[in-house]
Amino acid sequence: MAENHTTATDKTVPYSTGDSKITETTIAELREIAARYPEARSALLPMLHLVQSVEGRVTPEGIEACADLLGLTGAEVSAVATFYTMYKRRPVGDYHVGVCTNTLCAVMGGDLIFERLKQHLDVGNDETTEDGKVTLEHLECNAACDYAPVMMVNWEFFDDMTPETATQLVDDLRAGTEVKSPRGATICTWREAERVLAGFPDGRADEGPTGGKATLAGLRLARERNWSAPNGSETPKEG
Ligand code: FES
Repeated sequence: MAENHTTATDKTVPYSTGDSKITETTIAELREIAARYPEARSALLPMLHLVQSVEGRVTPEGIEACADLLGLTGAEVSAVATFYTMYKRRPVGDYHVGVCTNTLCAVMGGDLIFERLKQHLDVGNDETTEDGKVTLEHLECNAACDYAPVMMVNWEFFDDMTPETATQLVDDLRAGTEVKSPRGATICTWREAERVLAGFPDGRADEGPTGGKATLAGLRLARERNWSAPNGSETPKEG
């Protein structure tokens, strides 16, 4: 394994690097997000995504900024940031690559893909390649089991993967080749995706078909066979 990677167990990695990129513009945008909600504190999740888009992770400075703006304590913001797995305490590379290793994906090849990528990229779970391009993480079920095994790049789906297509995918990302999700979206950087999650659309939300073949199979069958959903007002049959 390559040296100098940050790891989930590395106690020596400082939480703060002291080089925060949060500017007045960031603060203004954090205020803008907070103003969208009747209860400002409801804005914390998208605000943390904005912090990640600027800082590349949730930093102490970002936590402090959110706490100040929302009238919360740093501990309260930290509690949220450390509860949800989409918030990262260590710097994420240009592309966050997730491999689903939950039950169905695992048996369909997810475990094999994850092992192959660890070897291919020379990183462990939650580690970033030395060129700073790819952070690899195993994910729990992505609610896309009908396409198992699935991967995600910056939260965009890659369906029916194999060890070969997975290694090609990360090679393309590292080489700067344009990559599209099979569901249509062109892959942007992780920071750009985080900005969208913060509620600043990039105008590409409707790229691609969204519902894929496997998801729509039931609908296709119902149409072919002239099935329809039961009318809710019908009296259920006894027995
Ligand atoms: S188990 Fe992988 S998407 Fe559900």
